[in-house]
Amino acid sequence: MTATIADPRLSGRSVKRIAFDEKTIAERVAELGAEITAAYPGGELLVLGLLKGSFIFLSDLVRQITRPLQVDFLVAASYGDGMVSSGTVRLLYDPETELEGKHILLVEDIVDSGRTLNRLMSLLEDRRPRSLEICALLHKRIAEELQYGTRFVGFDAPHEFLVGYGLDHAEDFRHLPYIASLQ
Ligand code: IMP
Ligand code: MG
Repeated sequence: MTATIADPRLSGRSVKRIAFDEKTIAERVAELGAEITAAYPGGELLVLGLLKGSFIFLSDLVRQITRPLQVDFLVAASYGDGMVSSGTVRLLYDPETELEGKHILLVEDIVDSGRTLNRLMSLLEDRRPRSLEICALLHKRIAEELQYGTRFVGFDAPHEFLVGYGLDHAEDFRHLPYIASLQ
């Protein structure tokens, strides 16, 4: 939307363009919250945020879901400092909450190759949840390897490296209130 972005948060580094601005994100997150509320008329709902990338999305999203729920987190690392998926997924934190018999909604920042989700979904299936669905803020629609459907998706993402609203490049840019492309 803008060619040059003057933002003191960037500390001299440049982002190419804003792909999704704050207002666009807020409106879509509100819609997703309503969709999710309607999709779960009964039963216990556990919203599982995949850290770190989902932390801002998750916190905005749960405040738009108007039914009882619980929140827990998973920590997995799939990328190093690069912009290309390394293909390996390491689980660094496992939720302590009981998953059996609950509706589990796994919240992810962005689906790229789908490798992270394949690994995590099969691990979560083993815990016998009542249902297991994915909510991704962004989806690059190139995940040929993804073996699971993404029931809730915020936006189809451009095939660019995106940062902000939780997404990082080498741990920078997570705090941008908008989503921008880096190259
Ligand atoms: P996948 O396993 O290839 O689907 O990669 C998913 C993970 O890679 C996401 O949870 C992100 O942490 C990271 N990722 C993928 N694409 C991007 C991007 O464009 N910007 C920032 N992180 C990304
Ligand atoms: Mg990341």
